[in-house]
Amino acid sequence: MLNKIISNILPYMPKKLVWVFSKRYIAGETLEDGLLASKLLNAKNIEVTIDILGEFISTLEEAEQNRNEYMEVIERFTADKIRGNFSVKPTMFGLLIDKEACYNYMRDIVKMAASKNSFVRIDMEDSQCVDMEIDIFRRLRTEFPANVGLVVQAYLRRTKSDLEALNDLNTAAHPISFRLCKGIYIEPESVAYKGYQEIRDHYLDDLRYMFENKMYAGIATHDKYLVEEAQKMIREMNIPKNMYEFQMLYGVTPELRQSIVDEGHLMRVYVPYGQKWFNYSTRRLKENPKMAQHIIKALFVR
Ligand code: FDA
Repeated sequence: MLNKIISNILPYMPKKLVWVFSKRYIAGETLEDGLLASKLLNAKNIEVTIDILGEFISTLEEAEQNRNEYMEVIERFTADKIRGNFSVKPTMFGLLIDKEACYNYMRDIVKMAASKNSFVRIDMEDSQCVDMEIDIFRRLRTEFPANVGLVVQAYLRRTKSDLEALNDLNTAAHPISFRLCKGIYIEPESVAYKGYQEIRDHYLDDLRYMFENKMYAGIATHDKYLVEEAQKMIREMNIPKNMYEFQMLYGVTPELRQSIVDEGHLMRVYVPYGQKWFNYSTRRLKENPKMAQHIIKALFVR
């Protein structure tokens, strides 16, 4: 109930107040903020993936601007020798306005990343986007097999069969690279599993499928249970270090994160930055009322 009230009033809260909550999860508003946060994480032996905030745009002019911002950050990463790669949300390049234009903007980014020997991960958005995002991934992966990966969401009923279908792209020379997450959007029960343990079970089932099929797995979670089960699977299946990494969001569960780094696993942190942080934060919070608990903590526990 309290969660619902908070998530309903969030969009009307003063920006300054929302920032109190958001600042822990967002590197800042500028490119320099994103670079600085990335360097500080690199210094802790943690790699990064940069996300420029902005999604579900309404004009293609915004898409072009977003493309240009990604090109700039890729240049700066190389110049500053930052260890990291890039995450992109297709709706930020106009997926829901003009799919072909979106593909072309994303292709520019992947091409640029490939020229720098780098990598772009396509985030997975809500279920209306999944078919189109898989399709764009297929096209880009065919052209740039070493430089592009995809996110899959364990809560979607379709995910296992998507993994099976995408297995045809997998090769020993260029293992297909997935980030596996639970999924953040509110979806109907016909589309997504709803039970907490049920989603965990599917998460582990998907992860096992990736390992059995020699796919690269980005294990994206802050759920200690999943982290421990994944580590167990890695040991039992003797998965080499170059076939997986752990991933977490900026500012979330830093102690668990550090314990994974200390055990010698590769850790990558998702670093969002940009001026669109207000919409991002409030929209995310509305989508996932559970997150509202974290606002209360952020407001009262310093
Ligand atoms: P869960 O939500 O159960 O959290 C486990 C514990 O972690 C909580 O009990 C709490 O202690 C802590 N925690 C989690 N979130 C917190 C927060 N915000 N603040 C403080 N503590 C928190 N989703 C998607 O649909 N598409 C995508 O492309 C991505 N990309 C992505 C990248 C990366 C690197 C990560 C880690 C996650 C995503 N996600 C995502 C989000 C993902 O789907 C999921 O919603 C969140 O990771 C939360 O799920 P957990 O597995 O962490 O479990």
